[in-house]
Amino acid sequence: MCGIVGYIGPRQATPFLIEGLKRLEYRGYDSAGIAVYDGESIETRRAAGKIAKLEGTLSADPVTGKVGIAHTRWATHGPPTERNAHPHLSTDNTVAVVHNGIIENANVLRKQLTELGHTFRSDTDTETIAHLVQELWEGSLEEAVIGALRKVEGTFGIAVVSSKDPSKIVAARKGSPLLIGVGDGEYFLASDASAILAHTRQVVYLNDGDLAVLTPDGYKVMDINNVPLRRSVERIEWDLAAIERGGYDHFMLKEIFEQPTTVENTMRGRLILEDGTSKLGGLNMSHEQLMAVDNIVITACGTSWHSALIGEMMIEDLCRIPVEVEYASEFRYRNPIITPSTLCIVISQSGETADTLAAMREAKRRGAQTLGLVNVVGSTIAREDDGGIYLHAGPEIGVASTKAFTSQVIALALFALKMARKRTLSVMRGRELAQAMHDLPKQIQSILDRAAEMEKIADEYKDAHNFLYLGRGFNFPAALEGALKLKEISYIHAEGYPAAEMKHGPIALIDEKMPVVFIAPHDGVFDKIVSNIQEVKARGGKTIIITSRDEPALAGLVDHEFRIPETVDMLTPILASVPLQLLAYYIAVKRGANVDQPRNLAKSVTVE
Ligand code: G6P
Repeated sequence: MCGIVGYIGPRQATPFLIEGLKRLEYRGYDSAGIAVYDGESIETRRAAGKIAKLEGTLSADPVTGKVGIAHTRWATHGPPTERNAHPHLSTDNTVAVVHNGIIENANVLRKQLTELGHTFRSDTDTETIAHLVQELWEGSLEEAVIGALRKVEGTFGIAVVSSKDPSKIVAARKGSPLLIGVGDGEYFLASDASAILAHTRQVVYLNDGDLAVLTPDGYKVMDINNVPLRRSVERIEWDLAAIERGGYDHFMLKEIFEQPTTVENTMRGRLILEDGTSKLGGLNMSHEQLMAVDNIVITACGTSWHSALIGEMMIEDLCRIPVEVEYASEFRYRNPIITPSTLCIVISQSGETADTLAAMREAKRRGAQTLGLVNVVGSTIAREDDGGIYLHAGPEIGVASTKAFTSQVIALALFALKMARKRTLSVMRGRELAQAMHDLPKQIQSILDRAAEMEKIADEYKDAHNFLYLGRGFNFPAALEGALKLKEISYIHAEGYPAAEMKHGPIALIDEKMPVVFIAPHDGVFDKIVSNIQEVKARGGKTIIITSRDEPALAGLVDHEFRIPETVDMLTPILASVPLQLLAYYIAVKRGANVDQPRNLAKSVTVE
């Protein structure tokens, strides 16, 4: 979602703030701004649009100073204009605030503060914090921030500076990630480690409820009652190259092409071919606890929800344990059935999605054991779950998730394999599945080597207004994910459906202008999907068929075909998803869309 950066130290803050914002731009990109203390007062510069616009403003009107905070925004309250861009100032201009999250009682506070004589200059909820800090000032910035936070309801990651207590940045989090970067005689603040990695690998992750004070001489962490807290310094293990484009036109393309490696990394040291099982050190569950699980709930949002659907089928098929998949946003407000033997699997690339985090907390409160499948190391879900499987896919910067999706499916397959081998799955069948997983990286590479074939198909359909994606069995979720990729980045309306369900509605849409993507590998439901392809062809629809063999049954039914290698049924969605990612990517590029930063979306949605 929005990105926060802060700097305090001996250097000029602005260049660092701008560089940090650029690294975070993928998280929110509708407006940006900085606030720097210039020795006398707080100077702000803000601009609607991308960071490049803000850079333009700064070169026309620079600011100097060694303490500063900055923000790149994804609008919640108020349109993405300069007036609503952060930082926001108090009425007397002595306090500047950047904020990620939502202040739920902003309207009430706004009314009270207006009555007290404060003047609001934006439509945002954030601005209330700046006025509150001014109003509650008693001598130190941290005391005033504590006072303000006692009055606000909602979620926040905030950074605050003030010209009345200028050698300080005060930060606080509740529901929105923040970390401190510990440099050599300088300190950084960021909502995401990628903003500061060029300067330090040493980070302190703040927990929910933490407040931090950064000065040129150090930092301290405390709770909202000003009681000091100990937080350990951790090391970021990935390299800057992981968050750079490395010769690719877009992060998304780089991430699609990384999949042979990322899928391998998810399995590394975990897949045991000989025993046909997996070793998952982070589960934190004994054999007895794993055997006691008699129902599983998987909760997630977006692409992660699609991988959950595939996981459901894998686990039910292999382990014979009933699985429920729930949108996290729905789960958290329902009255879900959780028993002491429920395992709640939480899937999230970022580990910060507000609904997913809240769903996990709700499951915990009701007594479920929680297991996080998370990509971002040190993220909130990863720190609060009872056990987990890190995806090890490396930073994913493209807003449309690709490599995290395939790694999520692999992590679910590793888990299903382990659980199944403990129960009913034979070693022979286990070995067969493990071997098939082991072969995936090479098979993905063979698909990527033929990316140009997909580019040609994309050329033909780039002007389509609608797309239908159809699949059955394990590939129904792959159809949903294929459609989501296309709509996210190309803005073409696309729907995913179980192929046979098409005749109960979407068939009405089919005419010669409607491209229909069928995910039809040679699996257990191949014969069934052929009849669905016939139904589309009979109505003049254009077919793009992802299949795995030369199939006589498809003769005369195919307008375009893309071959994927053969694998066991449950792994076919991994191979099928790669050409679908390429199709969406090439169509979006050909339509001139901003693939890495699609309109209105955000990489990690830290608000409800
Ligand atoms: C946003 C992103 C999606 C992502 C979803 C869930 O909508 O744009 O790509 O799938 O959030 O994110 P998570 O980090 O929890 O997997």
